[in-house]
Amino acid sequence: MNINLYPIISDQISKPALEVVLGELEKTLDGETTGAVVELGCYIGTTSLFIRRVLNEHHDKRPFHVYDSFAGLPPKSTQDSSAAGVDFKAGELAVSKKQFLEQFRRAHLEPPIAHKAWFNDLTDTDLPDHIAFAFLDGDFYESILTSLQLVWPRLETGGIITVDDYRRETLPGVERAILDFFQGKAYRLRYAHNIAIISKD
Ligand SMILES: C[S@@+](CC[C@H](N)C(=O)[O-])C[C@H]1O[C@@H](n2cnc3c(N)ncnc32)[C@H](O)[C@@H]1O
Repeated sequence: MNINLYPIISDQISKPALEVVLGELEKTLDGETTGAVVELGCYIGTTSLFIRRVLNEHHDKRPFHVYDSFAGLPPKSTQDSSAAGVDFKAGELAVSKKQFLEQFRRAHLEPPIAHKAWFNDLTDTDLPDHIAFAFLDGDFYESILTSLQLVWPRLETGGIITVDDYRRETLPGVERAILDFFQGKAYRLRYAHNIAIISKD
């Protein structure tokens, strides 16, 4: 899709990173993989709006779920410490679910199914049984680890998980969570513009 046609409504993702995420989504939709699209860590909807536009362009009606505390970031754990990352504090990036949904109303787009919860309070029934594409953007070690624990068992063969902030100096917990989660598991990982692209081996 031509992302230049639309505004990027926050500074939470760069244009090159957004292009990587949407490119992987388009490849998934063009393929045979069935299952839902999910985003864990949706904030104000910067990426969610584009995900909906891509689904619309593909006339694809599969379910689209987003998840967020809608209360901002949780506290960091020790795996997140970085001298470069002192700016990321608990409670930052708090927007309400109403503010999130308002972005879709303004853009005349159908909103996704929005879940307000801390990731580690989500239960089996909160997630679709089958996932084709996931975008994980929870910034911190525990948030990404929990997201992977929830999404990986539900990821269809041929499905893709994209993770923002991979190998970003300010958010070292993201890479640590990926390495810890996938230790001993068969998986493929490549990355571009700080987006990790993970699939089943
Ligand atoms: C970088 S922002 C996401 C940006 C978003 N993808 C966008 O494109 O606008 C990180 C979001 O993850 C949420 N988050 C992080 N850890 C979380 C957790 N453990 N449970 C619930 N929400 C979490 C925060 O509330 C915040 O909205």
